[in-house]
Amino acid sequence: MEVTAALAEQTLDFFREGSSKAPRIFFAPGRANLGGAHMDYNGGKVMPVALSKGTCIAIAPRDDHFLQLRSAQFPGEKIEVPMSELKPGRTKTWSAYSEGALYCASQAWGELPGLDIFVNADLPMGRGLSSSASVECGMVFAISKLLEAKTDADEMIRLAHRAESEYVGVRCGILDQAAILLAEKDSILLFDCLELTREHLPFPADRVAIAVVDSGVQRELANSAFNERVAECTRALSLLQEQLPGVTCLRDVKRKEFELQRDRLPPNLARRVKHVVGEYERTQVAAQALRAGNLAGFGETMSSAHESLRDLFEVSTPELDILVDASQSIDGCFGARLTGAGFGGCIVAVVDTNSKGVFNSQVPEIYEKKTGRKTEVQWFRPSQGPMEIT
Ligand code: GLA
Repeated sequence: MEVTAALAEQTLDFFREGSSKAPRIFFAPGRANLGGAHMDYNGGKVMPVALSKGTCIAIAPRDDHFLQLRSAQFPGEKIEVPMSELKPGRTKTWSAYSEGALYCASQAWGELPGLDIFVNADLPMGRGLSSSASVECGMVFAISKLLEAKTDADEMIRLAHRAESEYVGVRCGILDQAAILLAEKDSILLFDCLELTREHLPFPADRVAIAVVDSGVQRELANSAFNERVAECTRALSLLQEQLPGVTCLRDVKRKEFELQRDRLPPNLARRVKHVVGEYERTQVAAQALRAGNLAGFGETMSSAHESLRDLFEVSTPELDILVDASQSIDGCFGARLTGAGFGGCIVAVVDTNSKGVFNSQVPEIYEKKTGRKTEVQWFRPSQGPMEIT
């Protein structure tokens, strides 16, 4: 990947400004989720792809037991701390993602040597493209290679996920970590977050492309709003379990059962559960459509998911809605929806390659007319998971 090679070279240059060691360089992608929004922590299925943008990590062992951590995104800030002092709660700043991954990796694989690390991402932060999981997964992957740890993707998913939930303190599910660590080129991952089963569905990258468009707006308290949705789902589950004792997560709730029980729930919780019930059904339809090569059918599930995220789960914003509407108005756009947690950030669309030009000019133009904000379209094809760059 050309882009990654340029990022790697830049990362190496930055690394050398603060360390005389010879580093190894690793890359982990970001992700966009095309199906199964807010399903991971409800035990449902998700359908992400990895992006060709992500995080480069230059890393080299030191002769002492210190961690020196720097990042291109936080110039001038340098963390220097004994490895033994890494523990949850130590920091809430940018370094928590890397520190959390190092901490969790050392708990699984033993004490880490001192390390000089430089982190450099070409993914925008806080835009729903998993910039944080990209750092965590890249770091766990890099450590597994340095230590020659006997491990597999499933263990690395767990470790990177613990970094986010225990060290950073966001109560996310495992969508992002699974998306990144299990990704395969030119396919959409169908991952069952309860049973942990996976299937790689074909994505016809010669005929269709993935567009990511940034609204440029982020709700300030996006992390706490996200945690609030998780808490609402937990509360709804425990209310439903009073009548449906066999249900272990919201994914288990069938549409009929929901209809019978909905009046027992406060209206906002009923809306959340209705989204989960519908979204679980949609992932089944979407997967079937992809297996059959039916892109129109797949795209429809994306667009109806967006309506559900807007009206029932209430995580969209006016800007995201405008971008989704604009995308859907283009001939050759199969479907569009917000990606990531919502509350701002990006939308993702699946577009016929012949319509890329029109999409490129029209969507930003409509968006600017309606919001006064400028944006541009970024194009992707599904990429592979983490790798070492040699
Ligand atoms: C964020 C979280 C994920 C997932 C999505 C919503 O990206 O990190 O775990 O819950 O939101 O689908």
